Amino acid sequence: MKRLAGKVALVTGAGRGIGAAIAHAFAREGAAVVLAELDIDTAQQTAEHIKAQTGARVLAVHTDVTQSASVQHAVSEAERAFGALDVLVNNAGINVFCDPLTMTDEDWRRCFAVDLDGVWNGCRAALPGMVERGAGSIVNIASTHSFKIIPGCFPYPVAKHGVIGLTRALGIEYAPRNVRVNAIAPGYIETQLTHDWWNEQADPAAAQQATLALQPMKRIGRPEEVAMTAVFLASDEAPFINATCITVDGGRSALYHD
Ligand SMILES: NC(=O)c1ccc[n+]([C@@H]2O[C@H](COP(=O)([O-])OP(=O)(O)OC[C@H]3O[C@@H](n4cnc5c(N)ncnc54)[C@H](O)[C@@H]3O)[C@@H](O)[C@H]2O)c1
Repeated sequence: MKRLAGKVALVTGAGRGIGAAIAHAFAREGAAVVLAELDIDTAQQTAEHIKAQTGARVLAVHTDVTQSASVQHAVSEAERAFGALDVLVNNAGINVFCDPLTMTDEDWRRCFAVDLDGVWNGCRAALPGMVERGAGSIVNIASTHSFKIIPGCFPYPVAKHGVIGLTRALGIEYAPRNVRVNAIAPGYIETQLTHDWWNEQADPAAAQQATLALQPMKRIGRPEEVAMTAVFLASDEAPFINATCITVDGGRSALYHD
């Protein structure tokens, strides 16, 4: 029996990276999956690939998580195509790394619009149906920046700390209705986001080497390794796990110093 057989899931930012890996893993485990993504071309390509590989029912829907009506539309499309939503993964996120005092108001707003409002917009759209049916699992993709600070990487960690607060608050609020809300905090994961960050440094190869040297396992993570944890939290294998966060960082955040 597949671990998500019969479930309907929506994953935001699923066109590439961690979101695409989660959508793929969900489909492999028997879920019908909606890829809710700003870049619809990428989402459609990823959806076709997942369909061809798994035979699952997969749909790409143009979605901007910063707009509550857009996320509401994606949830409605999921329900129209596949039925009631069992699982929501709020994955869409962007890096906004600034010096606090030279950062513009626009940088602050852009970061919070995607990294925190986007998560709330997803929860706001999915919760009424889940609460009404007395079942649901929401997985928010946080970060090790939800607990740790790197100077010059402001305000991304502020928003990601907020994701943990939101996860805990909603997890407690809806626990009596059997709706679980959890987070995953990835460390460095091999995606375009990470490569973009390396490429912005003065010496990208040296920056990559420096990152690897800081990893206890001497490698960074793979999107599929985050996806495995998302499958677990979304499944019926985690019925008593709620309002918490699982770190997927190869032990990096347990290190006392670099
Ligand atoms: N890669 C890492 O090392 C890492 C580490 C910790 C946390 N994270 C978090 O994991 C999540 C995914 O990161 P990734 O590395 O896969 O990033 P990525 O940039 O490779 O993919 C993010 C996806 O989100 C989409 N997106 C961006 N803004 C959107 C919006 N407004 N509405 C809908 N979709 C939107 C993008 O088009 C893209 O497809 C993010 O929340 C990120 O903060 C990543």
